[in-house]
Amino acid sequence: MAGRLEGKVAIVTGAGQGIGLAYAQRFLAEGARVVVAELAEERGAAAMAALAGAGEAEFVRTDIADPDSAQACVDAAVARFGTVDILVNNAALYHDIDNTDASYEYLLKVCSVNQHGTWLMSRAVAPVMVAQRWGRIVNQSSGAAYSYMFPPMDFTGLGNFSYSITKWGIVGLTKFMAAQLGQYGITVNCIAPGITMTEATKKVVPEPFLAGMTGMTAMKERLEPEDLAGAAVFFASDDARYCTGQTLVIDGGLAMPA
Ligand SMILES: NC(=O)c1ccc[n+]([C@@H]2O[C@H](COP(=O)([O-])OP(=O)(O)OC[C@H]3O[C@@H](n4cnc5c(N)ncnc54)[C@H](O)[C@@H]3O)[C@@H](O)[C@H]2O)c1
Repeated sequence: MAGRLEGKVAIVTGAGQGIGLAYAQRFLAEGARVVVAELAEERGAAAMAALAGAGEAEFVRTDIADPDSAQACVDAAVARFGTVDILVNNAALYHDIDNTDASYEYLLKVCSVNQHGTWLMSRAVAPVMVAQRWGRIVNQSSGAAYSYMFPPMDFTGLGNFSYSITKWGIVGLTKFMAAQLGQYGITVNCIAPGITMTEATKKVVPEPFLAGMTGMTAMKERLEPEDLAGAAVFFASDDARYCTGQTLVIDGGLAMPA
């Protein structure tokens, strides 16, 4: 049986590890050709090793926060595979985030990657999708957009909320992009995962907080990267042809926003 993404070309940003790598693996299994757009050379190389034999994939070193690099990534994808049908804006500062840095400079840095990087990649890919009158953009928000509960910080001033506000911003950006691009057959949707058991989570989220949050979910189970991949395939497929501007929260029943 043919895969649900047979013949499609997908860019997955931040696919060097974690959720992005799980998306890349699943997309290959569904018949897509995949560009691993990743900033860290060693993560890109490790992902390519993990994906070996699974299908056609290419690592393009990309800094989504750099306009030239974002454009070069799309150009490289078109040069290698002929077009781009699907863009998954998964990359963000998460593993390497410093939640204790509440400075304005750091706020700008997190926004430049997590928020503006998504816009830069989408801007670069839009003309390709518009020209073919078909495209799928899948953004990555987070349960952090909906939750006000965070690990305590040793800080008495006002936090900069950098991670959370960028993830909330992605929900809004999804709607604006969807509204503009729908007329060209391009849908823009968003996934907001709960705390997912990646290496980044194991590094960033203290175990007692993780256990507490899991206990508050309806499912009472931990979320694995593979649990998110089916939603990404759905949004990227023709099954979601008339679904756009939506954010799907996948968190085992914690936030349940309207
Ligand atoms: N793991 C979770 O619990 C969780 C929950 C909700 C949302 N998310 C979101 O899901 C995505 C992936 O999460 P993860 O746990 O796999 O995180 P991760 O930090 O392990 O993966 C992110 C990847 O993006 C790459 N990256 C960072 N900056 C980049 C840049 N400027 N250009 C290109 N690549 C860059 C990193 O090198 C890394 O490989 C992120 O957007 C994260 O915010 C994660």
